[in-house]
Amino acid sequence: MKKPFLKAFGGGEKTYPITEVRYRSDDGRTLEVDNCIGPLDVKSAAALRLLFDKRLMSRKLLDRSGVWRYREFLPAFRPFSDIVSMGEGNTTIFSMPKCASYCGMDSLCAKHQGLNPSGSFKDNGMTTAVSMAQKLGACMVACASTGNTSASMAAYAARAGMKSIVFIPDGQIAYGKLSQSLDYGALTIQIAGDFDKAMEIVEELCNRGSIYLLNSINPFRIEGQKTIMIEMLHQLGWKAPDWVVVPGGNLGNSSSFGKAFDEMLKMKFIKKVPRIAIIQAQGANPLYNSFISGDRTLHPVHANTRATAIKIGNPVSFDKALFAVDSTRGIVDQVSEEEIAIAKSMVGRDGIGSEPASATTVAGCKKLVEKGVIKKSDAVVCILTGHLLKDPDYTVEFHRDELFLDADRKTTLSGAQRINTGGCSNKPVKMPADANAIMKYIEKWAEKGS
Ligand code: F0G
Repeated sequence: MKKPFLKAFGGGEKTYPITEVRYRSDDGRTLEVDNCIGPLDVKSAAALRLLFDKRLMSRKLLDRSGVWRYREFLPAFRPFSDIVSMGEGNTTIFSMPKCASYCGMDSLCAKHQGLNPSGSFKDNGMTTAVSMAQKLGACMVACASTGNTSASMAAYAARAGMKSIVFIPDGQIAYGKLSQSLDYGALTIQIAGDFDKAMEIVEELCNRGSIYLLNSINPFRIEGQKTIMIEMLHQLGWKAPDWVVVPGGNLGNSSSFGKAFDEMLKMKFIKKVPRIAIIQAQGANPLYNSFISGDRTLHPVHANTRATAIKIGNPVSFDKALFAVDSTRGIVDQVSEEEIAIAKSMVGRDGIGSEPASATTVAGCKKLVEKGVIKKSDAVVCILTGHLLKDPDYTVEFHRDELFLDADRKTTLSGAQRINTGGCSNKPVKMPADANAIMKYIEKWAEKGS
């Protein structure tokens, strides 16, 4: 069996060993792992499925992790020693009846990556990338982040006994996420600039050699995030849904989904893959612009959205995300701040909740149903990327009807634009400490229904 290697994304002869620390090819393109996995015969594919089932009953950490359970799809990490795992993955697929009816669909599901140890999908890729950092003997790791990558990296680095440094855009990261990086002991540097600037600086610093870069430009992050789709298919009895809907920011996640499906098809492990719909916020939409214009070129934008996780204007994995769309007959769409906010409240009403960026999926789904792209009866899985408690300020502001387009609180006083909550807010009620008055209020409230 051929050993996995690194190569430039988009082709070319030149290859690099897995153990070479580099983040781009000689000509500046992003790298990807070529896993050199050949097609399986029918018997071997069936045996692998059985093995994955058996591992669900195992007590070994590697089998219990929803990433390493699928390690046959991760041969670059062989011999699977030096693995840093927190039992990540294993995230539930929920039905969302209220969201389904909001979108005009018969049914709608969500795979909630917010149920990961650090509360976002980043853990799926961080376990693999930090494990690689450990194999390579790295002592210091770093990332630029809108918050979730930094929280995840800080957690895994702490577990591995590594020093971690996070670069975050000053004043633009949700407090839930910032609190995690601080608590896990990361050196937290607030850059006077946006995420795109922070990304530029961290790549430059890591190229100097002593610090290992853990953003999704690191191809080993993408490897781990592939397992979100592998686990989803396993949970669905290896039957692909019609659509997977995912938010798009730096575009690492959608890229990893495209790679997972491509490899599973090439391995003849599955016969059909879902179509990928990538949804961006209207104020941070470079992939959408390129998809609509058809020019397939990245024109960076100055990003602006209250869904701070995806406030990214110059995504690193642009080309890989285009491949994910092309290879699955996928689509890219954009949604407004209002659409995100209301869709998020719907996810909450289904008793699940998510952070704002994740709700682009439900908002996008509604839009694509209205356009006739997604059919009412299609099987659709939305990927909820982060936990509700990552950004509690946003949620509370929404329910108090105090959610403004510009997050800077000073501008709320000078008539900045309020986001319309569409009658979906659920304001806290102030009452006197009087049982009778409270009961009366409850009775009236109960009559109205929910
Ligand atoms: N949803 C959430 C909750 C995120 O944190 C991110 C990215 C995305 C969606 C977009 O995923 O970048 O793979 O397209 N957050 C990064 C961070 C950039 O720094 O935490 P993507």
